[in-house]
Amino acid sequence: MKILGIESSCDETAAAVVENGKAVLSNVVASQIDEHKLYGGVVPEIASRRHCENIHTVVTNALCEADCSLEDIDAIAVTYAPGLIGALLVGVSFAKGLAMDTGLPLIPVHHISGHIAANYISNPSLKPPYLALVVSGGHSHIIEVLDYTKYRILGRTRDDAAGECFDKVARTIGYPYPGGKSIDEASLRGDPNAYPLPHPHVAGSEYDFSFSGLKTAVINLVHNASQKGEQLSFDDLCASFQKTISEILISKTIKAASNLKYKTIAVSGGVSANSGIRSLLSDECKKHGFEFFCPELKYCGDNGAMIASQGYFDFLAGKRADESLNAAATMSITEN
Ligand code: KG4
Ligand code: ZN
Repeated sequence: MKILGIESSCDETAAAVVENGKAVLSNVVASQIDEHKLYGGVVPEIASRRHCENIHTVVTNALCEADCSLEDIDAIAVTYAPGLIGALLVGVSFAKGLAMDTGLPLIPVHHISGHIAANYISNPSLKPPYLALVVSGGHSHIIEVLDYTKYRILGRTRDDAAGECFDKVARTIGYPYPGGKSIDEASLRGDPNAYPLPHPHVAGSEYDFSFSGLKTAVINLVHNASQKGEQLSFDDLCASFQKTISEILISKTIKAASNLKYKTIAVSGGVSANSGIRSLLSDECKKHGFEFFCPELKYCGDNGAMIASQGYFDFLAGKRADESLNAAATMSITEN
């Protein structure tokens, strides 16, 4: 079964054709990063306009690269929540028009379940149940993946998402948006023990995260040094920050997997591209006897293939939408 997946929840216009949830026939991503970089973050109005301009070409190219026409496609999957509302509406409206025109089934896909499905593409042997750590620009969740379409949220961030924290620290240092990758690169040159940073305590839930204290600690360090005219090593600071955020994310994930007796941990989302997080989580999984999975780098950030993949599992579970489908800026993965 071939599914066309469409993704436009933030600053990537993306489309892909995926067969039976795992075989990627094409994966086209038109990134708007260079334009949003000028403003230090995503400008929602610009994102919507660029999606409008690009979506037809991106979908056409995805079909073309898969050597398909619409007649070869069995269903259309589209991200409908959560994300920037104006951005989501472009993908949803386009997918609805296409579904109405062709008579193909329309499958509404939750963005976070799409990130989780990225692992089915890169690791076809992965099967639920397992524990997922989803870390992106907008989300940080520890999720029990009970089945391909059934989830339970164990922990989430109380304030900033992990990616947001990377991006804000990067901005303080003077790196361009989005800063996660620059911090990752600088970390490779720095000493992770140079600057001790706080591991925040989160009252009330042992699996929830809080990153605002860590972010503020880094910002204060940079500002205090600049007021005193002291020189900080940004490489050391990045390495120390990356080590700390990795430890926070991974210690809670390992604790959750141990307590709930999961045997498998899978990380995904844009921040799962981080080399420190990938290697520490892989090491910790080895140490604790868990099987570890992560997506190939090209499926970590937003893409259409992950939406087409999850669309396949949602289709098998009977999920469908009609022409009344709307987008939602916020929606829990368990409500979808
Ligand atoms: O999943 P994604 O593409 O979009 C959302 O759903 O939010 O994630 C984007 C986030 C950004 O915050 C970006 O800085 C972060 O992923 N990111 C990274 C790395 N590559 C991208 N963070 C840390 N290390 C990286 N190598
Ligand atoms: Zn995302």
